[in-house]
Amino acid sequence: MTVKNNDFEDVMFNRHSVRQFDPAVKIDRDELQTMIASAATAPSACNLQSWHFVVIDTPEAKAKFKKAAMKFNYPQVDSASAIIFIAGDTQSHVVYRDVWQKVYEAGKISKERLEQIFNTFLPLYEHADKDFLMLDATLDGAMVGMQLLLVARAHGYEANPFSGYDFKTVIPAVGLDPERYVPVMAVALGKPAAGVDVLKTQRYDAKTQTEYL
Ligand SMILES: Cc1cc2nc3c(=O)[nH]c(=O)nc-3n(C[C@H](O)[C@H](O)[C@H](O)COP(=O)(O)O)c2cc1C
Repeated sequence: MTVKNNDFEDVMFNRHSVRQFDPAVKIDRDELQTMIASAATAPSACNLQSWHFVVIDTPEAKAKFKKAAMKFNYPQVDSASAIIFIAGDTQSHVVYRDVWQKVYEAGKISKERLEQIFNTFLPLYEHADKDFLMLDATLDGAMVGMQLLLVARAHGYEANPFSGYDFKTVIPAVGLDPERYVPVMAVALGKPAAGVDVLKTQRYDAKTQTEYL
């Protein structure tokens, strides 16, 4: 059982970005994978799950990532137990078609059901332009990113979401295909460094940002 904090209010309201971590703390990959799986229960457009994760948890991987990261984010990168880089997948609809095609070929659904699945929203994606696919994948990636921030706290860690990197070079820097993936955010994870002062950021009064139509 890796969930250490099941207090929803504490998990949500006491979440703040930590940018200096204890570099001696390691998070094993099984736990990282568990956190990723939990975060990936996020909703996504048409359940396409247009996200992809790159785990950066070794000095070599950090060195590669730092080539694209902005300098002001080096403290998180250097000290985090792991950085989970979230990319959006603009070809998730191709994956979706393959998955359902295989389900049909395995005899689990009828041809009619397959046609029904393929003809609902897939044409929208298959005829979409790059901007639509990038936006859709970015929205899905942001949903999973927010969940990951909360899951991290539930596991007893703190985090910092960040997108301060070169959007053009970060995808190849993390070993992904820039024709397919778009950057969404990086999430640095770990235990806070001893004595670190965490800024309790404030929010605007939500009423000032709300209209009723
Ligand atoms: C899309 C996005 C990009 C961000 N980029 C950075 C960044 O590059 N560096 C950084 O230190 N923090 C970054 N942050 C963290 C924000 O500064 C932080 O969430 C915000 O100030 C609110 O503070 P809190 O997280 O402590 O509540 C980013 C947050 C989001 C959502």
